[in-house]
Amino acid sequence: MTSISEKALAITAREKERYANMTPGSQKATERAKKVLPLGVASNFQFFEPHPIVADHASGSRLWDVDGNEFIDYNGGYGSLFAGHSHPTLVEAITAQAPKGTLFTTPSVLIAEVAEALVERFQFEMVRFTNSGTEATMDALRLARGYTGREKIIKLEGGYHGHHDLVMMSVRPPLDKAGPADHPNTVPYYGGTAKATIDEVVVISFNDLPALERAFTEHPGEIAAFILEPVPENMGIVLPDDGYLAAAKEICHKHGALIIFDEVKTGITSNWGGASTIYSVQPDIICLAKSIGGGVPIAAFGASREIMGYIADFTVAHQGTFNGNPLVTAASLAVLTKICTKEATAAAIARNARLIEGCQKVIDETGLPAHTVQLGAKGCVTYVPERVRTFRDYKKTNFELAYAHWIYMMSHGIFLPPGLDEQWLVSVAHTDADIDRHLEIFEAFVREVTA
Ligand SMILES: Cc1ncc(COP(=O)(O)O)c(C=O)c1O
Repeated sequence: MTSISEKALAITAREKERYANMTPGSQKATERAKKVLPLGVASNFQFFEPHPIVADHASGSRLWDVDGNEFIDYNGGYGSLFAGHSHPTLVEAITAQAPKGTLFTTPSVLIAEVAEALVERFQFEMVRFTNSGTEATMDALRLARGYTGREKIIKLEGGYHGHHDLVMMSVRPPLDKAGPADHPNTVPYYGGTAKATIDEVVVISFNDLPALERAFTEHPGEIAAFILEPVPENMGIVLPDDGYLAAAKEICHKHGALIIFDEVKTGITSNWGGASTIYSVQPDIICLAKSIGGGVPIAAFGASREIMGYIADFTVAHQGTFNGNPLVTAASLAVLTKICTKEATAAAIARNARLIEGCQKVIDETGLPAHTVQLGAKGCVTYVPERVRTFRDYKKTNFELAYAHWIYMMSHGIFLPPGLDEQWLVSVAHTDADIDRHLEIFEAFVREVTA
């Protein structure tokens, strides 16, 4: 009898060939780019085997590659395109602003307008802009260190917060280096990290309150902040245990540290007011990026007036040439106030619920060893039968099945995020027909692999 993993491998071999046959232009463009760019891409996360699709143009929920293939885009710029591609209102905002100036390096009225829109959604009192999620978490952590006068931080095993040194730890630690699950080692994510930085980061598992408490007792008076995604979205989607976030906040405060929610992904895609609103836990600092810009590089971090006062009185530095430039703030204002409205957000979440239910139904009917998880407009199929609570649980994924799923969807025009730890995004531009098509292709894959 053929095991499900063997069937998955056979499907992968066939679909890889199909993918290669339909994307010769992408292959050629990648070969050209490889001569002048490592891996032929601008970010390692854009590279995948056999080669990435090279995009030609995109609109709404669709993306076309250089070979003329049309994809329904559920990758959405790794969760950055809740507004869809080039929403007409966004295009109007950018084209209205471009001739009036793209960079002033002195304030425009737009910065306060976007800040007010973020304050209304996210319950913090003040905000500062950056250009990427990486900068948002870097500045948030610096602020936490300046505010507390402490240096060390706590982060989650399996958590990704961008590519500055302090958070490039235990992002995907190999299990033979990761140490015990209840007391993980700090493992740098690839090379180039100073030993001194490794010593500044204490790593714990998600949903493990005793480990959080112990991190503080093992490093008394040294921890500035605990940074986490309230719902980790870099190992599928991992929901917090009941009461976990509130208890984690209490432990941090008891020990004089801040709690930082990285809502770069969850932000406006999980709910109009973010995951902190869903779980009714207000962290000390919130980091935002990705979808708040609708596809242009704007990010932010927000906190109370008291904490942000450390920037206002120059205790902690915060700067950046392109911060809050008029082009990206015009785009963000359109996203926050006109495109991803409360109604549009609710409609996208409802469409995603239909997609999730449809996928789960097929899983239940066929006994596929997997389950679905939804957070707002994001969703995923995780190839582990039981709920995942930690990075170690996530590592039990049947990656042969997960890859077969991904390449099958790609070769049938459903663009899911490359990187099997990611999740899909249903944008405000996705239609019921897009959901039906996704379900149709998913069902065909599952029926074949479980036959
Ligand atoms: C949770 C989280 N935080 C931070 C970042 C970094 O954002 P950026 O890629 O804009 O630097 C990412 C990127 O994927 C992310 O998923």
